[in-house]
Amino acid sequence: MNFGHFDDQHREYVITNPRTPWPWINYLGNEDFFSLISNTAGGYTFYKDAKFRRLTRYRYNNVPMDSGGKYFYIKDADTSWSPGWKPCKTELDSYECRHGMNYTSIKGEKNGVTASALYFVPLKTWAEVQKLTLTNHSKAVKKLKVFSFIEWCLWNAAADMENFQRNFSTGEVEIEDSVIYHKTEYKERRDHYAYYSVNVPVQGYDTDRESFFGLYNGFDEPQVVAEGKSRNTEAHGWSPIASHYIEVELQPGEIKDFIFILGYVENKEDEKWESKNIINKKKAKETIARFNTAAKVDAALADLRRYWDNLLSIYTVDSGDEKLDRMVNIWNQYQCMITFCFSRSASFFESGIGRGMGFRDSNQDLIGFVHQIPERARERIIDIASTQFQDGGCYHQYQPLTKRGNNDIGGGFNDDPLWLILGTISYIKESGDFSILGEMVPFDNDMSVARTLFDHLSVSFDHVVNNLGPHGLPLIGRADWNDCLNLNCFSNDPNESFQTTENKSEGSKAESLMIAGLFVVYGRDYVTLCKKLGKHEEAARAQSHVDTMIDAVKKHGWDGEWFIRAYDYYGRKIGSKENEEGKIFIESNGWCTMAGIGKEEGLCTKALDSVKERLDTRYGIVLNNPAFTKYYIEYGEISSYPPGYKENAAVFCHNNPWIMIGETVAGNGNRAWEYYKKICPSYLEDISELHKTEPYVYGQMVAGKDAFKPGEAKNSWLTGTASWNFYAITQFILGIQPDYDGLIIDPCIPDSWSAFKVTRKFRGATYKIEIQNPEHKSKGVRSVSVDGKPQDTNLIPIFGDGKEHNVTVLLG
Ligand code: BGC
Ligand code: NOJ
Repeated sequence: MNFGHFDDQHREYVITNPRTPWPWINYLGNEDFFSLISNTAGGYTFYKDAKFRRLTRYRYNNVPMDSGGKYFYIKDADTSWSPGWKPCKTELDSYECRHGMNYTSIKGEKNGVTASALYFVPLKTWAEVQKLTLTNHSKAVKKLKVFSFIEWCLWNAAADMENFQRNFSTGEVEIEDSVIYHKTEYKERRDHYAYYSVNVPVQGYDTDRESFFGLYNGFDEPQVVAEGKSRNTEAHGWSPIASHYIEVELQPGEIKDFIFILGYVENKEDEKWESKNIINKKKAKETIARFNTAAKVDAALADLRRYWDNLLSIYTVDSGDEKLDRMVNIWNQYQCMITFCFSRSASFFESGIGRGMGFRDSNQDLIGFVHQIPERARERIIDIASTQFQDGGCYHQYQPLTKRGNNDIGGGFNDDPLWLILGTISYIKESGDFSILGEMVPFDNDMSVARTLFDHLSVSFDHVVNNLGPHGLPLIGRADWNDCLNLNCFSNDPNESFQTTENKSEGSKAESLMIAGLFVVYGRDYVTLCKKLGKHEEAARAQSHVDTMIDAVKKHGWDGEWFIRAYDYYGRKIGSKENEEGKIFIESNGWCTMAGIGKEEGLCTKALDSVKERLDTRYGIVLNNPAFTKYYIEYGEISSYPPGYKENAAVFCHNNPWIMIGETVAGNGNRAWEYYKKICPSYLEDISELHKTEPYVYGQMVAGKDAFKPGEAKNSWLTGTASWNFYAITQFILGIQPDYDGLIIDPCIPDSWSAFKVTRKFRGATYKIEIQNPEHKSKGVRSVSVDGKPQDTNLIPIFGDGKEHNVTVLLG
């Protein structure tokens, strides 16, 4: 069943039934100021950091689901309704939500009145703009009462949910004209306040939650709305909110716009106050003035659209398959921007409190984002590297506001350092900017021990070399990419966290074949980079470590039909035919085949066939098989999940593209494509009822074959799946790869395809690439011509001349 449809021309997903199987959300803002918004206007807002600078409250996992948001209540005679159906849940005559690129519009119609609420964060603005448009389609004059609503969060989203004995006494507001200012804690250590305004005079307002709703009412029936007039309350402690009350008269056919602004201001210490206890409102008023007419708002939205036109013009495919085109050209790239912005911090599955920016996560996110805005990728790489330790180890996460490593989570995940090589190399290949390698970058944010970014890559490489186990394979540390394979944890206390509890690493023999494959792939990249820089000795040294690793994998990592996954604390195999459960895993087979380890001897093909045979399912490739059915103390969290969920044998979408890429390395385009389609959301739209999450973005996991409901997805939006799938489809299946000296064209497609086109903007020129496949091959470039001239290589040169160049590629 469908709950809406794609509108590719406007780059929107149009939801036509508000009762989606789960809140289907969107993100507003992509630099400093952000909101999450569901199809029924649920969600919340923050500045930079979803934990430390939360502006509005949200109730996670509530009854009903998706409670709290940016609500409008419209009272027309005795009927109260909301344009997004929720929270009133009054049956609407029509409903439509359009989620677009960083904007959402939600339109409802009731008794001849349409209310359309447009929400977005204008570029370079610390505010969310909401334009509410009311239209009277009826023949009668309509006298409407409109109530806006948001609820302030007391800034620190964690404390806000815990420390009520304090919180209930701290809330403070100021009201001036039609603007409600939230100044809680402003007089002590904060240099910031928030505000919510509307561009017309109001007939009333409320700022005290209890007075607005009545203590025993829900979001669906505020007392004030029922009574048809606000109470003009000023919050003192308890829970401050902001609600405007506006009386509107609409003649038949008349349309009126109202502009609401939810904004954030920072003031310097000596500019905080206008007079005693009265906050300095200058900056808020400036922002309000920038958007005080519908024309100004429309212009700002047009700017945002142009910004996205530009971003999405960098890579476009014309394949003839609309589902593929809309993912590559619109939604997958959009999701990559979102994961770039938020890492794994704030979604409807991530509270914004627990996790900051992940070291490995943010590096991987770059591979789907770097082509969009390389300058921002550059800044991110430096931020991430600045949290690294001198021995190459890393904090697992850092807070976006402070950019400092998060001590609560700590480090010791031995795959982490290698991803910095991936992130950096992807940036250089896209931009050609080698100067980043010479930037002085601190360790653990301490500038006194800064070294160049290149040195950070060296210590990343050496972190593996310096942490090898008994088989010469990388020690796993706290865990590798699979955070739940906790081989040194041995936790038997349910009150401990698998992620942070003290590890028994001393004397551990736990080694990871996944890190081994990763090391070969990015170790080789490191070698190439060293050579490019003329560091031949370092290149040779690194190459010898890579070669040794390849030997170690062949000797100790091959199980006969596939690559084993790891050795446990005691040095026993995991992911081997010898095991009763968890005989085969996706990660090591993905990385070792991407690395092409043992390709000549047929190991890669065998491993990929084993994956196909044992892990492939209707809904994608599961992480491991057979699923763990009991808790193994020596494996940790992975065996804590019921079979078929999360890291225990779900389709963990993030690593499906590793196999897709492995298949392209082996030249098998049909299989790569089949795997791509199985987890790609646009192909799953028709099974939305089962799939549950948004049909326009990837989720982290889909319940595996051992689960109760195979095919049901969870944890949409913030997952490395976005960037890895974009990377797999664009660079390995469609095969357009940015490289140091040009674009490499090397597709690996299903043999049924006859042709496709890609337009790629790269280093200051536009490449119009046409791939023809008359002989229906999967892989192999027979001839290439550029601007009509035959070329003897599939490396297309850098032109940098601002012009268009026609590239014709013949497969065969
Ligand atoms: C999840 C992982 C996640 C880890 C760290 C685990 O509970 O299953 O997917 O990476 O927590 O937050
Ligand atoms: C989610 C985490 O964000 C990521 O870092 C990890 O690699 C995967 N889960 C797998 O455990």
